[in-house]
Amino acid sequence: MENFIFHSPTKFVFGKDTEIEVGDLLNSYGAKKVLIHYGTGSIKRSGLFDRVIESLKEARIDFVELGGVVPNPRDDLVYEGIDLCKKENVDFVLAVGGGSAIDSAKAIAAGAKYDGDFWDFYDRKAKIEDALKIGVILTLPAAGSEGSASAVITNTDRMLKRGLNSSYYRPTFSIINPELTYTLPTYQTSAGVVDMMGHIFERYFTNSKNTLFVDRLAEGTLVSIMEAGKKLMNEPTNYEARSIICWAGTIAHNGFFGVGREEDWTSHRLEHELSALLDVTHGAGLAVIYPAYMKYTLNNHIKRYKRFAEKLFNINPEGKTDKEVAEAGIKALENFYESIDMPTRFAGINASEKDIPKLLKKLEENGGKSFGQFEKLTIEDAKKIYQLACE
Ligand code: NZQ
Ligand code: ZN
Repeated sequence: MENFIFHSPTKFVFGKDTEIEVGDLLNSYGAKKVLIHYGTGSIKRSGLFDRVIESLKEARIDFVELGGVVPNPRDDLVYEGIDLCKKENVDFVLAVGGGSAIDSAKAIAAGAKYDGDFWDFYDRKAKIEDALKIGVILTLPAAGSEGSASAVITNTDRMLKRGLNSSYYRPTFSIINPELTYTLPTYQTSAGVVDMMGHIFERYFTNSKNTLFVDRLAEGTLVSIMEAGKKLMNEPTNYEARSIICWAGTIAHNGFFGVGREEDWTSHRLEHELSALLDVTHGAGLAVIYPAYMKYTLNNHIKRYKRFAEKLFNINPEGKTDKEVAEAGIKALENFYESIDMPTRFAGINASEKDIPKLLKKLEENGGKSFGQFEKLTIEDAKKIYQLACE
């Protein structure tokens, strides 16, 4: 195991009815004025919004609200949120929703404590040195933002989707009630499953040595996510299955599986360009990228992909070469994605080969000409991976 620091200071409050504790929790952290930040309506339709307001009123906490966060959250609402926080002396931002509402809340929390343009952080012209406290009520297990140090925002003028890591982005608390996810459309549940698996893949596919202990934890978690994801196709209100993907989705991206190893993140980079250009659902985009990425990098990492095939999909190695076992694993992953109604090719996300030059241009603008840890890649390699995802 390589040296590491693991610091995940978020308090996680998990289980049925936990959202009604939000007022008391905010009080325990000394919140005086809260910004409630949310998406485009699901929390109002489900009644969650009313329960949150009631809990804040009971706890005598003052609040303002700002809804309207769209998937692949945009900078314009972040600016609006920052102005509101400054004007209203907000000291705590409460995100109620999925990754998009949480990421937008994080950027607002940092921007509210900064005199310049918050995008300076995303352009790496400035570093976050302070932020308002952040609380979360999670409604969609996917991005893992409820426990992660990241927030991904789209700059609409420049058509750039960028992620940023900061310890200030770790939420102070996150409330996770699996029942709040019952109302999710199947597409979002499945996209969430793909995304959280992806957060483990980005760490599992590593060149670091002596990673067996965490590899085994990762494999067990991936198998559990797949089992629960399949169950939810027919039983969307199965509490245990919802619980598994809620907690697995959180630990998938709070750093737990990244300890003692080098992480990759190539597939996420390739996908972020798809979401930025075509407003694709992040998890659906990943279901298209991962099989292509794996096929492209297979030859240099046969042992690793063989292990993945055996541990995740019980591929029987008898009578097969190592490469055949590895290929069967990648095929099994594709089959799994398809079994939960996820696309695995460009056509399934309304993309086509014609989009590739634009994707490559943005990829270079965002991250330069070479990238990747597990496999060092160039823009020309990225082109081939996108092409494989079209076939
Ligand atoms: O806007 P509302 O009405 O709430 O509807 C949302 C939205 O349309 C809906 N939804 C959420 N909870 C629901 C619900 N509908 C019914 N019932 C519920 N309980 O689902 C739709 C998608 O929501 P969104 O928040 O966009 O999804 P997700 O959680 O997948 O977040 C995606 C964003 O997170 C970023 C992605 O790039 C993308 O922008 N990521 C953030 C990361 C991080 N901060 O650490 C890491 C990830 O890799 C990812 O990049
Ligand atoms: Zn992701």
